[in-house]
Amino acid sequence: MATAVFPGSFDPVTLGHMDLIKRASGMFDKLIIGVLVNSSKQPLCTIEERICILEELTKNIPSIEVMSFDGLLVDFVHQTGADTVIRGIRNSADFEYELPLAQANYKLNNKADTLFLATLPEYSYISSSAVKELIRYKGDIKEFVPDVVCKFIMQKCNY
Ligand code: PNS
Repeated sequence: MATAVFPGSFDPVTLGHMDLIKRASGMFDKLIIGVLVNSSKQPLCTIEERICILEELTKNIPSIEVMSFDGLLVDFVHQTGADTVIRGIRNSADFEYELPLAQANYKLNNKADTLFLATLPEYSYISSSAVKELIRYKGDIKEFVPDVVCKFIMQKCNY
């Protein structure tokens, strides 16, 4: 069974993440969304909230499983038995950053390759950090995140 891991902080989940998740899920028998625990000292959403939101957003895609992981990505990939890691590339800066990580990860676990998916141009300016910055100043995040995330943030952050 071809299994891929889509790892990330997902703090919060963006429209760019959702596009990649939907496209990647069509390419593999199983897609595991791996949510990194402790990705930031002051996360916007707790690990439980991120998992709950991702489960809600992917409830109609049976081949998707949402899991948390702590520590090295290669160890998580090994534990799940996956043979591919999915990463999205928005621009050349992403590629510069992701390439050595993918190479290091392959060196550590040559049973899993990293597959880069090009982000759709309409989502290429979106990042979780930009969303967090907008939230800090109560900016409009409707064009950046799925409705479920938007509603959750509005409640949590008293918009
Ligand atoms: O959504 P993000 O924050 O860009 O995701 C980054 C993530 C989770 C993929 C990356 O930080 C990661 O793999 N962290 C686990 C630790 C690890 O394996 N680091 C790479 C060492 S070569």
